[in-house]
Amino acid sequence: MSAAPAPAARRIGDPDHPALLRGAERGDLDGIMRIERDSFPRDAWSERAMAADLDSEYTGYLVIAGEDGTVLGYGGVLAPERSGDADIQTIAVADAARGRGWGRLLVSELMALAAGRGARELFLEVREDNPVAQGLYRSLGFEQIAVRPGYYQPEGVDALVMRARLAAPARSGTPVAPLGPPRNEGIGDPDDRDDTSDTDDSTGAA
Ligand SMILES: CC(C)(COP(=O)(O)OP(=O)(O)OC[C@H]1O[C@@H](n2cnc3c(N)ncnc32)[C@H](O)[C@@H]1OP(=O)(O)O)[C@@H](O)C(=O)NCCC(=O)NCCS
Repeated sequence: MSAAPAPAARRIGDPDHPALLRGAERGDLDGIMRIERDSFPRDAWSERAMAADLDSEYTGYLVIAGEDGTVLGYGGVLAPERSGDADIQTIAVADAARGRGWGRLLVSELMALAAGRGARELFLEVREDNPVAQGLYRSLGFEQIAVRPGYYQPEGVDALVMRARLAAPARSGTPVAPLGPPRNEGIGDPDDRDDTSDTDDSTGAA
């Protein structure tokens, strides 16, 4: 199986906040994990789980990087070709870089990426107490289809399951993660938990 070809990276932002939207590389792992731990203090993915997901041939990960290469945002989608379904795995923007439209851009690009891999439905899970993310997803066509009570532990916060229908096979506007080993390596193994995380390997994003 091969990932979609990787188009060129794209300049985004404005003169005050120039940035690049591009496919994630393994070298982005530290920057991604910094934002992941800041954004999901109770349920961050472990570094090992994130590395495995970045390497997977079934996922596509994007990053937004500043001019100096600092990772300012990232998002990933699990979209095995020929599956028809895809899942947003995780998405976050660095606290200082929020409110610039980059979260919206990342979700839109993940939708395009999933559609480009043949997905017709895109799913995600979001914490019930995260209205900002829910509003963003709704504005991009996601609807709530289920609730998973107490999904986020140890706090016992419900997860809303949301779905968007992907009508057309869209071009993927940005590069995707490089090919690598199968996704499930290191995912869901309690031994892989990050030292700073006291819950499972699932992210608050999806
Ligand atoms: C959710 C998140 C990715 C949004 O990133 P962002 O770059 O700030 O998002 P955008 O600037 O594209 O704004 C998207 C929408 O979010 C909402 N929003 C953004 N900042 C907000 C704020 N401080 N308060 C309320 N709503 C806000 C707005 O409705 C905005 O829509 P608009 O484009 O119509 O104004 C970011 O807040 C984040 O990383 N949060 C922590 C991690 C997280 O919760 N991830 C999602 C888990 S499911």
